[in-house]
Amino acid sequence: MSDDAEKPNRQESEFPEPPEVPHRRVFLALTAAGTCAIGAVVAVPAAMLIADPLKGSAASDKKFHVANLEDLEPGVAKRVAVVGDEVDAWNRAKDRRLGAVWLVRTGAREVRALSTSCPHLGCGIDVSADGKGFGCPCHTSNFDLTGKLTAGPSPRGMDALPVEIGPKGEVLVTWKRFRIGEKQQVELA
Ligand code: FES
Repeated sequence: MSDDAEKPNRQESEFPEPPEVPHRRVFLALTAAGTCAIGAVVAVPAAMLIADPLKGSAASDKKFHVANLEDLEPGVAKRVAVVGDEVDAWNRAKDRRLGAVWLVRTGAREVRALSTSCPHLGCGIDVSADGKGFGCPCHTSNFDLTGKLTAGPSPRGMDALPVEIGPKGEVLVTWKRFRIGEKQQVELA
């Protein structure tokens, strides 16, 4: 055997590696796992929030029972509140007032629902004094009972919302919101 083989590596002998301690390995593994878990807890809701901050979620969650057929007089506009759960990535707020709609009964089992939010700049639309149409008090846009624009600066007519009639005459409105100030109707997420 040569002399070189017996000589210890000078650097290794002067600065020996500390012995591997099993507890240290376990500690590092647990720390890494904990970090991943915390990251997932934070990242998943954050991603949901970015994707859909006001997640009225699935379409079925956006359908609200706002009135009954028996409450509606044919041809007479009636304003009703839309109340339901507001869901975002973090919370579910029960029974919040989400908005309002104008309902006009147009047949035995037919109802028209129109958003009360003016497509011009979002003011609340009122029924006209004679009850034959609607008017926005902010810049005097006027609409007929079908929601069609008849005068004023609104870029489009009132926004119609889908309506279904339940087996017991429940008026179910699918709640939607739209971008204001645009000629085309663009639904907000
Ligand atoms: S907000 Fe309704 S006319 Fe301007």
